[in-house]
Amino acid sequence: MSRYFDNELIERIKDANDIVSIVSEHVALKKKGKNYWGCCPFHNEKTPSFSVAPEKGFYYCFGCHASGNSIKFLMEIEGISFVEALEKLANRANIPLPEAKLSPAVRAREEHRKKLYEASELAAKFFHNCLLQTSMGKVGLEYLKKRGLTDETINNFRLGFAPDGWDRLYKAFKERGIEESILIELNLVRKNDKGGVYDFFRNRIMFPIMDGKGRVVGFGGRVMDDSTPKYLNSPESQIFEKGKILFAFDKAYKSIRESKQAILVEGYMDVISAHNKGITNVVASLGTAYTQDHGHILMRQAEEIILAYDMDGAGRQAATRAIELLQNTDFKVRVLAMPDGKDPDDYIRNHGPEAFRKLVDSAVKPFDYLLSESLIKYDINESEGKQAVMEAVFPFIANIHNQTVRDDALKALALPLWLDNSTIYRYFRSYIRKGNIELVSESQSVPKTIVSGDEDHLMALAINDNKVLQDIVNYLPLEDFQNIQYRGIIEKIYTLFITSGQMQGESIGEVLTPEEYEIYTRLMMLDVKEAVPVLIRKIRLHSLREQYKMHSIMADQLKRAGDSTFISELHKCQEIQSLIREWSK
Ligand code: GTP
Ligand code: MN
Repeated sequence: MSRYFDNELIERIKDANDIVSIVSEHVALKKKGKNYWGCCPFHNEKTPSFSVAPEKGFYYCFGCHASGNSIKFLMEIEGISFVEALEKLANRANIPLPEAKLSPAVRAREEHRKKLYEASELAAKFFHNCLLQTSMGKVGLEYLKKRGLTDETINNFRLGFAPDGWDRLYKAFKERGIEESILIELNLVRKNDKGGVYDFFRNRIMFPIMDGKGRVVGFGGRVMDDSTPKYLNSPESQIFEKGKILFAFDKAYKSIRESKQAILVEGYMDVISAHNKGITNVVASLGTAYTQDHGHILMRQAEEIILAYDMDGAGRQAATRAIELLQNTDFKVRVLAMPDGKDPDDYIRNHGPEAFRKLVDSAVKPFDYLLSESLIKYDINESEGKQAVMEAVFPFIANIHNQTVRDDALKALALPLWLDNSTIYRYFRSYIRKGNIELVSESQSVPKTIVSGDEDHLMALAINDNKVLQDIVNYLPLEDFQNIQYRGIIEKIYTLFITSGQMQGESIGEVLTPEEYEIYTRLMMLDVKEAVPVLIRKIRLHSLREQYKMHSIMADQLKRAGDSTFISELHKCQEIQSLIREWSK
């Protein structure tokens, strides 16, 4: 990540900026002990679990585990690149950031991306202009008006029209000196077998797709009749990653933030139709299913996601998949069922925005949705039907972490299926066994808590002080750490230290895996008062006692099985015992 600037410069820029003041621009912080605390900007919470350690220049959230330094904070909160974040910090501290520091390869890539953005923007203008200012666009405008869109909506979404004919866009862009290769890369034009170039979008209504910052990154183009394909969409490109973009998020985020609610629909027209009638917290994932990245985009603004998918087979399937991905996240999720009409656009046009709002208010919890869906789908007068209903909802139930909630869900099946609880539990157990599914209990699902033990404390001291690190390497076998990841972290940091003399700063991020880095920043936040020798001894003894237990069980089992090697296990036990005695002195 930081290859193009030397680490020294990055460190200097970070050091020149106080992380507390940077974070404070986005989060209200309060000092408690050495660190500052506030409500995490990366997930929704009411009690602060987001901490900032000014001395170390790190932040860590004990709720969602977001972590990093001031550069990463800016990248995440403002959705900017590493270089952009670094520039911001350098400006703040009046440190000149030499342009020459960008390697030629990076500069070329940035230049190239700029061209892609510019050509996309120009294409949006071209299509929009065609729709509103030319006679060719008349049919398009009529179509949109017929679908009930106001001028304001057409302008707000910058809707457009791709004229009929083979090369109108191509010619217009050529005159303006836009490189053909850029147009090909964006799939705005294509090459045929004979080398001729033609426009990709022809005689279609054009929906420009913007990223979170409102930059045009792609297009959807719809026919105006029943011909197929109904939509043509821009393929992914260096500036367009479908799984990371929500259609209209740039227009919806304020309203999502205010209402703390995001309505997720399937189609361009569903979004536009809702905004057209003043329902502005609506976004769509682009022809693709809901992804976890979409969740991350929404996470900062919304507490609740309403799934308002089409009422056809594909829509129902997409809803089920989204429910699965959203289960056990911090989002509240509800699912909206349209009593008639095939999609939100239809519904809003037939019944008006108020009726749609009422539907949103009455949207049901995912489990209730799944259950009612499958009760309609299967004939529950037959035992096969009952079983099919159970199998449709069991995956969801098995994934509920809280046991009481899980039990309630199982019990809720009894009444509609006319079965008693014990029968349902029996089916559930056998489903779990067959699928080799392990039920996750709440305590397992929250492995990282603020409460920490000896190993955390020793690690916290070690990553801050190379003398402690050296003590560990000298006196404590790494296997004594019951936490396997700690072994790896110590090993890597120690290697870094003996090879570079350093054990902090940017290079840490390069040697640790993202998961290790998260642990590292969590440990950074701990305030440890115990002495190093005490901690080393406690960990050593704990490990020795565990080993003793293991070997004595082994000896016992071998002996009972008539295996004479149990003697060697007993010897090991004796060795360990004398070590325990030594360390207990
Ligand atoms: P209208 O029919 O105009 O109301 O459009 P819609 O947005 O309701 O479309 P629909 O529900 O049929 O499809 C939902 C979304 O799936 C669309 O907005 C497109 O993103 C995508 N989609 C639909 N049809 C096609 C297609 O033929 N090809 C591709 N690539 N995507 C499609
Ligand atoms: Mn539709």
